[in-house]
Amino acid sequence: MNKKIALIPGDGVGPEIVKQGIKVLDAVSAKYNCTFEYKELVMGGIAIDKTGHPLPEKTIKACKESDAVLLGAVGGWKWDNLPGHLRPEAGLLGIRKALGVYANLRPAILFPQLKSASFLREDVLEGGIDVMIIRELIGGIYFGEKKRVDIEGGEKAWDVMAYSTHEIERITRRAYEIARKRSKKLTMVDKANVLESSRLWREVVMGISGEYPDVETNCMYVDNAAMQLIRNPKQFDVIVTENMFGDILSDEASMLTGSLGMLPSASMGEGQIGLYEPIHGSAPDIAGQDKANPIAAIMSIAMMLRYSLDMEAAASDIERAVSKVLDKGYRTADIMQEGMDLVGTERMGDSIAENIC
Ligand code: IPM
Ligand code: MG
Repeated sequence: MNKKIALIPGDGVGPEIVKQGIKVLDAVSAKYNCTFEYKELVMGGIAIDKTGHPLPEKTIKACKESDAVLLGAVGGWKWDNLPGHLRPEAGLLGIRKALGVYANLRPAILFPQLKSASFLREDVLEGGIDVMIIRELIGGIYFGEKKRVDIEGGEKAWDVMAYSTHEIERITRRAYEIARKRSKKLTMVDKANVLESSRLWREVVMGISGEYPDVETNCMYVDNAAMQLIRNPKQFDVIVTENMFGDILSDEASMLTGSLGMLPSASMGEGQIGLYEPIHGSAPDIAGQDKANPIAAIMSIAMMLRYSLDMEAAASDIERAVSKVLDKGYRTADIMQEGMDLVGTERMGDSIAENIC
């Protein structure tokens, strides 16, 4: 078996964590006697420097021709003052859109070994945390009309949050299918007390809920959800929400697991091809210093094997390897605890790869 994997290391810590991911994929390839054909592509700041654009056509084309795409992170101070459509982040939004990956799965799972690395009290985390945030990824305020005009006394700017029935339906069905395979509980998060787009979301979700009588559906305002995630995270199983709320709540949920460096993500559309990326950013302050936690990227590869490459056993191997390495006491700085072994990015990557067996 040969699988084509597009690699987009990107900026900041992106290249270092993707490199660790490849070590793990190589270990999987040796164990399962399959080959991964890697194609390295530019996107984000590095693409701006090399080609003048954050998302070259060549990158889009090569991604579409692959079985899966692995992305590190994009962005950095150097490109912060460019106009919006030329910033590194425009590359990221562009590739998500080009691949049509509307469903962004962001699991927040607490490894028991990291309980004391979390910022929350141990009793709140008792029994473990396993929340799946499903974020709509290619609609809403991220993609609506953006404009800036001069008005008397200053300027005026707006970003439109728009959703169509179709966009809400497809992500809702995806969320129900996932909830069905878990504990059959779906929470839709919105701001229906204020936003018209949220009222449409609520109508569509409630309409579809009848098709899934085995799943318990409830609705929650986003401000309350932000509070409940900290107060009583165990009440959640699957959360489905629009793009920006999902962006914010997933960073918040990462704190339940100890670090932003622990959260992977998978973005899927209608086909098998998926885009896999850690939820964290490019962390330019620690880039190139062997300090970044590669676990989010490595766990994203586990999701890639599971959802795009039909290699469930290998996905479980990776998750077990991460757990074993944590058992051994290895910790990158972001999840360091007293009495544990502080390791760098490379050593963490090597150890996880060695434990794929
Ligand atoms: C994420 C990131 C991106 C987003 C940024 C880098 C554009 O925060 O993947 O959560 O907002 O989607
Ligand atoms: Mg984010």
